[in-house]
Amino acid sequence: MLPFTLMTTAFEQLSAVCPTLSIGVLTADLLDLGLELKLLEDAGAPVVHVDVMDGVFCPAMTVGPPFVKALKTPLLKDVHLMITEPVEKLDAYVAAGADMVTVHAESTSHLHEALRRLGQMENANDPARGIVRGVGLNPGTDLDRIDGVLDEVEMVVLLAVNPGFSGQTFISATARRMEQLQQMIAAAGREILVCVDGGIKKDNVGEVAAMGPDLIVTGSAVFDGRDAAANAADMLKAVTG
Ligand code: DX5
Ligand code: ZN
Repeated sequence: MLPFTLMTTAFEQLSAVCPTLSIGVLTADLLDLGLELKLLEDAGAPVVHVDVMDGVFCPAMTVGPPFVKALKTPLLKDVHLMITEPVEKLDAYVAAGADMVTVHAESTSHLHEALRRLGQMENANDPARGIVRGVGLNPGTDLDRIDGVLDEVEMVVLLAVNPGFSGQTFISATARRMEQLQQMIAAAGREILVCVDGGIKKDNVGEVAAMGPDLIVTGSAVFDGRDAAANAADMLKAVTG
């Protein structure tokens, strides 16, 4: 596989490695972030996932642009914005080095404008990369909420847990929603990646991978245990086969 730097857009780089994992880094040892990122790199993980929460869109508060900027890694930076009114805040995350930015359909009445703006922004790591635009859907949000923006996204993120509440399990209705989404994307006639995020652990990653997503987000299953490198390698193997 070509190193990312020799490929062009982030979407091409990402598509070339799918199906794969996007590994949530907030449950890593943040005081040893460089080492934790190196563990992921050595395990062959291609993408690092950053859950940005503002305590309004969902109860938890997490990190912002300075944290994204601090992620010194060749992995693609997948920034999941669980924040209210993201339109005027997008440029700060892109300037901080996001390669992928997911905006929630529930977070703004200007979803199309948010995605259109993202499509115009330059990737701070490498102008040629562009930005992979994602739209996120909470478990209770109907898929028809994204009908009008399928031409403005490269990825749809199905939340399999309710964001911001800890200790949840994978919501089983996600399987049916993923099927419905795959049909919507086939009908749209565009290359759009399907991502599923939340509640995915070592004991269900194989079952979730069998549903056919392109990208699976997992966080605590990798970092909560003893051996993050082995967890990442095992889960990557379960997804990539
Ligand atoms: C919703 C977030 C997810 C989630 C992943 O809360 O978008 O990324 O926290 O965490 P795990 O893999 O620990 O469920
Ligand atoms: Zn996430």
